[in-house]
Amino acid sequence: TGLFTYDAGFLSTASCKSKITFIDGDKGELLYRGYPIEELAEHCNFLDVAYLLKHGDLPTSEQKIDFVKIIKRHTMIHEQMAKFYQGFRRDAHPMAVMVGVVGALSAFYHEAEEGFLDPKARNVNFNRIVAKMPTIVALAYRYSRGKPFMYPRNDLGYTANFMHMMFGTPCEEYVPNPVIVHALDTIFTLHADHEQNASTSTVRLAGSSGANPYACISAGIGCLWGPAHGGANEACLKMLAEIGDVSRVPEYIKRAKDKNDSFKLMGFGHRVYKNFDPRAKIMRKICDDVLRELGLENDPLFKLAKELERIALEDDYFVEKKLYPNVDFYSGIVQKAIGIPTEMFTCIFALARTVGWMVQWEEMVMDPEYKIGRPRQVYVGEPRRGVPPTRRPE
Ligand code: CMC
Repeated sequence: TGLFTYDAGFLSTASCKSKITFIDGDKGELLYRGYPIEELAEHCNFLDVAYLLKHGDLPTSEQKIDFVKIIKRHTMIHEQMAKFYQGFRRDAHPMAVMVGVVGALSAFYHEAEEGFLDPKARNVNFNRIVAKMPTIVALAYRYSRGKPFMYPRNDLGYTANFMHMMFGTPCEEYVPNPVIVHALDTIFTLHADHEQNASTSTVRLAGSSGANPYACISAGIGCLWGPAHGGANEACLKMLAEIGDVSRVPEYIKRAKDKNDSFKLMGFGHRVYKNFDPRAKIMRKICDDVLRELGLENDPLFKLAKELERIALEDDYFVEKKLYPNVDFYSGIVQKAIGIPTEMFTCIFALARTVGWMVQWEEMVMDPEYKIGRPRQVYVGEPRRGVPPTRRPE
């Protein structure tokens, strides 16, 4: 392999040192700043978790009040930016719109990359994008449906306001269901960070050149879109719809095991977790709560998902390869029940992961060992050779 260690897909290379998130894939353990995800999901809301990831500890009640106030101050986007959506086709995938609109934040806040050595400027960057993401995601949805844009309502909490911007009607008070708000808020918490996954590594690599952080987040959104990563929740729901009936589950399990078939069980398997993804366990419970609240316990899609999970978990192929349901397996079903359209699922993932991306970006730029990321390669192409005489000009 020449001079360099070859590690395709970074299976054994640590790209950085980090104090943010810890995963023990064999145990199925996930900690944010040392706190188990199960406890955070139960006792904290998404803004507590965002504060924790950013500042290293959970906020005191005064810190929480200030943080919530600051986030509310930043929820609106520049009116000029709202016009930016008009340039997209209405049938564009909302993740494509997100790549463009979030990238365009860098055109509105040019100073963001210059201020990265100033902690105050870094806080403003973080608060600004965390506050604006629900607005940006909701506008992408409203634009795709030709619905009027809804301004943020700062009398509502972070997640309730997001639901208002998604589903509200002008001049009518939107009253979100607290069970649904809690479920969505927990989905945000579960997606807030996940150490050096593909999109976070993309953000770090893009940021390592000193690029504008919003442009880096846009790069992260592009990476998240793929079905092997954040796009799996959308792909999982499409797969369930294609399977259609419990009676067809064995056929699809067979396909997933077939080496000559590219079909994979979406929402199954993980690079790091070789045990249950702890987020999937929480998501399964949320799924039960939401379906019960909405009277959808007998929802055929949910029954199908449970049957698929049951058969896969008993199958030797999945047992031997340690393939368990991941976070995306149930998140799509919950979101569908809430009324979020399939193509928006990954945008919601991006909304939440923006917290992790920004915090990881900051950790990188503040790292005294920080260098531009510049992987090397193992060259396997042609050796040096000359252009043939027949190709040379007379
Ligand atoms: N269905 C059937 N077989 C699978 C699956 C699956 N979902 N996942 C992995 N395998 C097989 C794979 O074919 C390989 O077999 P072999 O050793 O015979 O070649 C073995 O299991 C190891 O898999 P891998 O693809 O080498 O593992 P990886 O770490 O490179 O990939 C993964 C991890 C998540 C990309 C993969 O499991 C996958 O594509 N899963 C489906 C997509 C998905 O649910 N992604 C969401 C991941 S979690 C949330 C997120 O990151 O956004």
